[in-house]
Amino acid sequence: MPSMRERSLAVFPAGSNGEFNLPPELAMVIAGGEGCRLTDTDGNEYLDFSMGWGSVLVGHARAEVADAVRRQAARGSNFAYITENALRVAEEIVRLSPAADRVRFCASGTEATMYCMRLAHAYTGRPRMLKFEGAYHGANAVGVTSLFPERPPDYPRPDPTSAGIAHEVADWVLVAPYNDLEATARIVAGHARTLAGIIVEPLHRCTPPAPGFLEGLRDLTRDQGALLIFDEVVTGFRLAYGGAQEYYGVVPDLVAYGKALGGGYPIGAFGGRADIMDLMREDRMGADDYVWAASTLGGNPVSAAAAEAALGVFAKAGTYDRLRALGEYLRTGLRRVLGERRITAQVIGDGPLAQVVFSPDAVRDYRSARRGDPGKGRRLMLGLFKRRVFLNPMGTKLYLSLAHDEAVCDEFLDRFAHVLTELG
Ligand SMILES: Cc1ncc(COP(=O)(O)O)c(C=O)c1O
Repeated sequence: MPSMRERSLAVFPAGSNGEFNLPPELAMVIAGGEGCRLTDTDGNEYLDFSMGWGSVLVGHARAEVADAVRRQAARGSNFAYITENALRVAEEIVRLSPAADRVRFCASGTEATMYCMRLAHAYTGRPRMLKFEGAYHGANAVGVTSLFPERPPDYPRPDPTSAGIAHEVADWVLVAPYNDLEATARIVAGHARTLAGIIVEPLHRCTPPAPGFLEGLRDLTRDQGALLIFDEVVTGFRLAYGGAQEYYGVVPDLVAYGKALGGGYPIGAFGGRADIMDLMREDRMGADDYVWAASTLGGNPVSAAAAEAALGVFAKAGTYDRLRALGEYLRTGLRRVLGERRITAQVIGDGPLAQVVFSPDAVRDYRSARRGDPGKGRRLMLGLFKRRVFLNPMGTKLYLSLAHDEAVCDEFLDRFAHVLTELG
């Protein structure tokens, strides 16, 4: 009888549903999870520091969410139309998100950013989109462009990162270094009349914005008649209830959400000023700037029930103080363990997010993060995985959740210290 691991390696490329890049001997199949722990089909327990890539900020099998989903599933799972709970979630997004006068739902972050970019092109009538090197905006063509360039070309030339993307995309994507307002301004000035917008993860992967950077992007885009798009798929409902807009105090023209909003269920949402979002009104079909948007499962009532329950959890007093304190606790612990061993590394992150980068230099963008020893980052992640910490060994961020606490972070730090010793 082949094992679950062997069966998954036989049907999934690399034995995963994407991005995990585990060596075959570490491939596993998950049986279930509760809080911040999960179990594989061989009965091994893992501390979860991925939390469904951040989608399960509420914690696995959180009772309020599971109950709401169960109740809704018995009343119908999809009508591809507005339901009462989807309406309430949309009203709450409009209330908390300064950028969003109008909202639409889709089923993933990939779709949400794609619609934002499409709206920006339609609204401005311009063909170019600027993104920052190393940023991920989902699996759409622009989202993966210059995501992991091995030999980064000179700015603003993009690197495809993924095959299978139409060559023309490269003609229209401009790539800039994150946190470098001057370089970004030069690129924008060189393409002023053709630039539709700038899309940015306000917290770029795990690298916080330098003071004034997001404000600078706001001014640049406004001055050039281009739109500013915040990809809040990670930061939304995580850095603050009002996301990066509230946390960093900058309001974009369009905003994309996903992940935490769904309480662990499939969701994407995007919103913006009414005059931009109304380009999607179907009574405008046939107009040159009409934007098509339709998502069969977008805003389905089961995801909406999960989202409503998750928002209820997030809105409780103390949620964000707790998440930020926990993130600080983990980052401080990581620095302490590294310092005790005199290991040169940077610990980056904000809110309930952390990442260790083996670089001697402060991390401010993709290139400074790569200057160190990315191979060591991967060895660390695989070492943690072997010690039963479930995470993405591509060396990306560690996600905390409301189910984590200081004791779990201490357990993690203990394993982290052992792996560092093994790595030497
Ligand atoms: C910043 C950012 N945007 C968009 C996405 C895409 O979201 P999804 O995987 O739901 O399509 C991700 C996913 O990791 C992300 O981190």
